[in-house]
Amino acid sequence: MDDTFAIVGSGHLAWHLSQLLEGPVVVVSRSGSPADWPVPIITHRELANYHLKAVFLAVPDNAIAGVSRRLSEILPPTLPVYHTSGATPLDRIDPYFTERGVLWPIRSLRLGEPVSDWRDLPLVVYASTTSTRTLITAVARALSDTVAYLDDEQRAQLHLAAVFSNNFVTALYDVAHRLCQQADVPFDLLLPIMRHTAAQQDGTPPRDRQTGAAARGDTATIDRHLALITVPAYRDIYRSLTDLILQYRLPEHNADLRRDADDDLQDEGIA
Ligand SMILES: NC(=O)c1ccc[n+]([C@@H]2O[C@H](COP(=O)([O-])OP(=O)(O)OC[C@H]3O[C@@H](n4cnc5c(N)ncnc54)[C@H](OP(=O)(O)O)[C@@H]3O)[C@@H](O)[C@H]2O)c1
Repeated sequence: MDDTFAIVGSGHLAWHLSQLLEGPVVVVSRSGSPADWPVPIITHRELANYHLKAVFLAVPDNAIAGVSRRLSEILPPTLPVYHTSGATPLDRIDPYFTERGVLWPIRSLRLGEPVSDWRDLPLVVYASTTSTRTLITAVARALSDTVAYLDDEQRAQLHLAAVFSNNFVTALYDVAHRLCQQADVPFDLLLPIMRHTAAQQDGTPPRDRQTGAAARGDTATIDRHLALITVPAYRDIYRSLTDLILQYRLPEHNADLRRDADDDLQDEGIA
């Protein structure tokens, strides 16, 4: 079939991508296990029967190099090959392929859980050549209103930032959940403030919206909290994050000190 997109791997991302790409799509699976997919499931060897437009590697990050090397044995070198990883450099795709690129959705995706708002979901693209960039930008724009072109370094930095803003926040929610369980307090009581804090993020520096004991420099409350924590790992997290927030206050303090000093000088008629 002409101009078919091939997706290699039949995991979480492949499940979503296979339903989103416009035009014919095949999924390449080692196991051939998925039975109820809406697209044909084929083997690596069967790829040679298709006239392919591009290949998307939806395999684990550490399999990108090996899978692309294997594909280089059966596919032409000028076929565009894209990986879908935020943290993996473009050159992990085998150098046999001259048209290499990246399509990275900034979202945790799970097989069987449809995304209702793909147009709101930012996509990051990158490419080794102009034509590969044109193709992946068109594919991405057909899916989303927000498409960013970021090189390997920028994408890796954004992936790291996503860990802080997403995975680590979830880990902190889990600490809160356990603390509530320990005290037999309903965790649900925290849900409105958690949602409110997330909804407040509007692109301005989040530190400007920080509240709580550390933001106020309230050391008495900080000491009371520390005395309540029984798990050493939680105490370390509390101390580290408190120190971080206290540091945010320093320039503010310095500004206050500078203001005080200026006022003193003015009072003394020096300034
Ligand atoms: N899931 C997400 O939330 C998400 C979001 C953004 C980007 N990504 C990126 O998407 C890519 C795939 O992630 P995923 O979460 O979809 O992974 P996954 O669910 O673990 O699935 C990967 C699929 O690749 C195949 N596979 C597994 N190990 C392999 C190996 N060693 N060699 C060759 N094929 C192998 C398997 O399919 P078969 O058994 O059928 O071959 C497996 O179902 C990664 O680069 C990831 O960074 C994922």
